[in-house]
Amino acid sequence: MNAPLFKRLWLSLARTRVGRSIFRVGLPESNLERSQAMVSSFLLHVQPAKVHRHSIRASYSLGLGLISLYLLFILIGTGVLLMFYYVPSTTQAYDVMKDLQFVVSAGLVVRNMHRWAAHLMVLFVMLHLCRVFYTGAYKRPREFNWIVGVSLFLMTLGLSFTGYLLPWDQLAFWAITVGTNIAGYAPVIGPKLKYLMLGGNVVGQDALTRFYALHVIVLPAAMMLMVAIHLWRVRKDGGLSRPDETGDIVQQIPLGQLPVNKSYGLMELAHGTTPQVGRNPEDEVFSWPHLVFREILLFLLVAAVVLFLAIFWNAPLEEYANPIHPPNQAKAAWYFLGLQELVSYSAFWGGVVIPGLLVTALVLLPYLDRKREGVGRWFARERVVANSIFTICLLAAIVFTIIGTFFRGPSWGWVEPWQAPPAITEGH
Ligand code: HEM
Repeated sequence: MNAPLFKRLWLSLARTRVGRSIFRVGLPESNLERSQAMVSSFLLHVQPAKVHRHSIRASYSLGLGLISLYLLFILIGTGVLLMFYYVPSTTQAYDVMKDLQFVVSAGLVVRNMHRWAAHLMVLFVMLHLCRVFYTGAYKRPREFNWIVGVSLFLMTLGLSFTGYLLPWDQLAFWAITVGTNIAGYAPVIGPKLKYLMLGGNVVGQDALTRFYALHVIVLPAAMMLMVAIHLWRVRKDGGLSRPDETGDIVQQIPLGQLPVNKSYGLMELAHGTTPQVGRNPEDEVFSWPHLVFREILLFLLVAAVVLFLAIFWNAPLEEYANPIHPPNQAKAAWYFLGLQELVSYSAFWGGVVIPGLLVTALVLLPYLDRKREGVGRWFARERVVANSIFTICLLAAIVFTIIGTFFRGPSWGWVEPWQAPPAITEGH
């Protein structure tokens, strides 16, 4: 867009009486106005007036948290549109899917956007978790935010899982049958948990009603609350982690390195929350425009990618759910296929003990690994042990997922994808 034209339009809008009542500052020209723009706007005030250069470096956060957030926005927007048509009934849900495909204007694109954004969100939340781990960003003071993050990760999986059943096709029916059977293996509470999820012993109308309520109300509401807490904590914890964070570590500045062109009082040499001479001011930039414009650009990019995928690839829809005719091999969604592979060795160990231990380890991680070295840097040498353990677990998860996706066929038998036609899995 032509920048001066945009600027002229904005200024003329901001100068009208209505404009001034909404945009108090207009298009910021001075540093004072840049700060005012951030604090006087409802949307922008969530963020600080200034941010560290390190925090806006794309090579540090890779924008993964923001991408997850934008995908969530897209999911909420398209999900609400889908709700105008969807009926959570075993006799009507599938027809609605067909109507979206053939009757409703842009219905297919909206459904596709919702589906691809959901897959991408699972992927990007996982990548964000890995980024936070490899930069040691879960350490003090961010331990609690890491736990909030773990709950967001589980909720993301829960949202995907509950959404899976809604089209009421063969894929939906059998993937949820497999998924809830896995939950049923848990000792003592397993069968009760499965009954609670399904509202019975098999996937039917009661299950669809429950999954629908969880998918459109319970989980999104809980997720939005947790995201709000998550972002609030990012701000309260002093923005993104960075290597020069003082925390409780006294940063020794050798006398010879103190800036010679500055005057300072003794207080500025103290550690803690007191600013250090010659450091903080130079490390920060105004959020407007440095952060805000990057965020807008990233949002446009994410929206464009989701739209592109939705236009060129359709979300899968198989035949109407048939409880007496299982497909050749019922598979879970790709992000549960590693789990399904584990369950094929031992339902109890693979479906309950190992995932349970992994989630517990994730929750306890910031309290077990407390050394402050290496925070704010990718793959810091000081964190080689933690990084190695995490990488081994990650590689194992990837290998099991690849085996479950490509090397398993009828009756979960071994197939070689280059010899046999690949089994049908969700999203392919
Ligand atoms: C719905 C899912 C999530 C959303 C929308 C989200 C959003 C964000 C955003 C926007 C940031 C700041 C910018 C960035 O780091 O990219 C952030 C930071 C952070 N997130 Fe998440 N996040 C999610 C899930 C998670 C998960 C699964 C974890 C870990 C288990 C996590 C842990 C953290 C931590 C510790 C920070 C601070 C990082 C630092 O200071 O360097 N988040 N998150």
